[in-house]
Amino acid sequence: MASNVSELTTYMAYLEGEWKKSSSGETIAIQSPYLRQTIGYVQAVTQDEVDDAITAAHNAQKEWAGLSLSARGEYLDRWADELVKNSEEIAQAIMQEVGKGFKDAQKEVVRTADLIRYTVQEALHMHGESLRGDGFPGGDQKKIGIVERAPLGVVLAIAPFNYPVNLAASKIAPALMVGNAVIFKPATQGSISGIKMIEALDKTGLPKGLLSLTTGRGSVIGDYLVEHKGINMISFTGGSSTGRHLSKQTTMIPLVLELGGKDPAIVCDDADLDVAVSSIMNGAFSYSGQRCTAIKRVLVNERVADELVSRLKAKVEKLTVGSPEVDSTIVPLIDDKSADFVQGLIDDALAKNATLVTGNKRENNLIYPTLLDNVTEDMDVAWIEPFGPVLPVIRVKSDDEAIEIANKSEFGLQASVFTQDIDRALAVARQVEAGTVQINGRTERGPDHFPFLGVKASGMGVQGIHHSLLSMSRERVTVLNLK
Ligand code: G3P
Repeated sequence: MASNVSELTTYMAYLEGEWKKSSSGETIAIQSPYLRQTIGYVQAVTQDEVDDAITAAHNAQKEWAGLSLSARGEYLDRWADELVKNSEEIAQAIMQEVGKGFKDAQKEVVRTADLIRYTVQEALHMHGESLRGDGFPGGDQKKIGIVERAPLGVVLAIAPFNYPVNLAASKIAPALMVGNAVIFKPATQGSISGIKMIEALDKTGLPKGLLSLTTGRGSVIGDYLVEHKGINMISFTGGSSTGRHLSKQTTMIPLVLELGGKDPAIVCDDADLDVAVSSIMNGAFSYSGQRCTAIKRVLVNERVADELVSRLKAKVEKLTVGSPEVDSTIVPLIDDKSADFVQGLIDDALAKNATLVTGNKRENNLIYPTLLDNVTEDMDVAWIEPFGPVLPVIRVKSDDEAIEIANKSEFGLQASVFTQDIDRALAVARQVEAGTVQINGRTERGPDHFPFLGVKASGMGVQGIHHSLLSMSRERVTVLNLK
C-alpha cells in the first residue's frame, strides 16, 4: 500500500478496492506539526478517479445491501480486531501526523474498535416496527404496516484532523452496517492515519469498490465530491464555515454536520470548585484544546471568580508542554496558521485590557497554555473558537447573566454547569442553547453511544451510534392489505 521514496513513504490511494497511485502523478506532502518536517506523501486523486470510485461504489453497494446484517457485521468485527492488532502502528501515525500524544492516540484506536463493535450490535438489534391500520380512527384492521430500515446508497464521509481514526470510523462503520457504500475523504493531515485505518478494513476482505479512500486537494476534489450526483448522503465533521458552505452546495440529500463550538463552563457560586477546576482543565486543555467539544470559555459567578482563577492558574502552570512523544498535554498546534490565529485572539484580548493570568508564550506552532481573566464581550476570544490552549474567563453576576452570554454565541455544541444544587443545574441546563449540557463534568462527545449533536452554527443532525445508523438509512414501509 506504499512505496518508499527517499526514505519517506509515498502512500497509495484506496480506489475501487485497490491500492494505487493516482493518474495525476501528483502527491501531497504531509507535514508533522511537532517534527516540523514531511513525514510522507499521499496521492492527489483526480476528479475522474472520484467518478470511477463512486460508480464502483454504487455497483458494489447493491450486492452488499443484499448481505444479511450479521454477514456485514462480521466484516466490521474483523475490522475492529485488525485495528486493535495494529493499534501501536496506527497510533504512531496519528501522533506523527496530528501531534496527538501517543497514549491518547492509542486510546483513540481502541475506542474506535469499541465503537465499531457496538455499531454492529446496535444494528443487529434495531428491529423496526409494525403498525395496525385500525390504530387510527376509521382505520382498517386488515391493513398492516411494516417499517424497516433501508440504505441510502453511497455515503460521503468527511473526517477532521483531530480524530483522524475515531471520527472517520464513527461515519464509516454505521454507513456500511446499514448497507451503504462509502467514499471516505480524510483531512489532509489525517490522511496517513486514515490510510492505516483502511488498510485494516481492507484486510477483512471487504468487497472491492464498496469503499474508496480519496486523498487529495480540497481545491480539486473537495467541492467535486460534495456536489457529485452519485453521492446520496454526506456526514461531515469540521469547521462551521466549511459546514455552511457544504450545506449550500447540496440539494435533496441528507446531511449530518458536526461543526465547531464555543462550549461554556458555567460556574455557579455554590459549585464544588475541585470538580469545576478538574473538569475545566481537562476539558479546555487536553490535546491543546483541539477538540470541537473543548471548554472554550468560563462564565464564573463573580463571588467565586478569584478563587477559581487562582486554582486554575496553579493547574495551568503545571501542565506538561512539549512533544506528543512524551504525552505532553500541550502539544504544537496542527500548523503555523492555526497558531497565528490563536495568538491573534490572545493579542486582541490583551490589547482590550484582558488580564493575562499566565501564558502568552509561543515557540513556532507551540502555544503555551494561556489563561485570560476579566474578558469582556468586546474581545474576539469571548466569541471566536480558538482550537488552541487559550481559556477566557468572563465574570458574571448571576445564572441569568451566564445563560444570556452563553446563548449569545453563534455556537451551541455543548456546555458544562457546575453547581451542587441539582434543581439549579437543571434550571440552567434547560435554558442553555446547546446539543448537550454536562452537569458537573467536562464537555465531551463520549461515550460514543450517546447522541452527539450541535445546534445553531455547531451542526445539523445527530451523531452517536444509534442516531448515525438512523441518519445513514431511511424507512422502508411495506403495507399488507389482507383479504
Ligand atoms: O472534536 C471532535 C469531537 O468529537 C471531540 O470528541 O470525545 O474529545 O469530546 P471528544
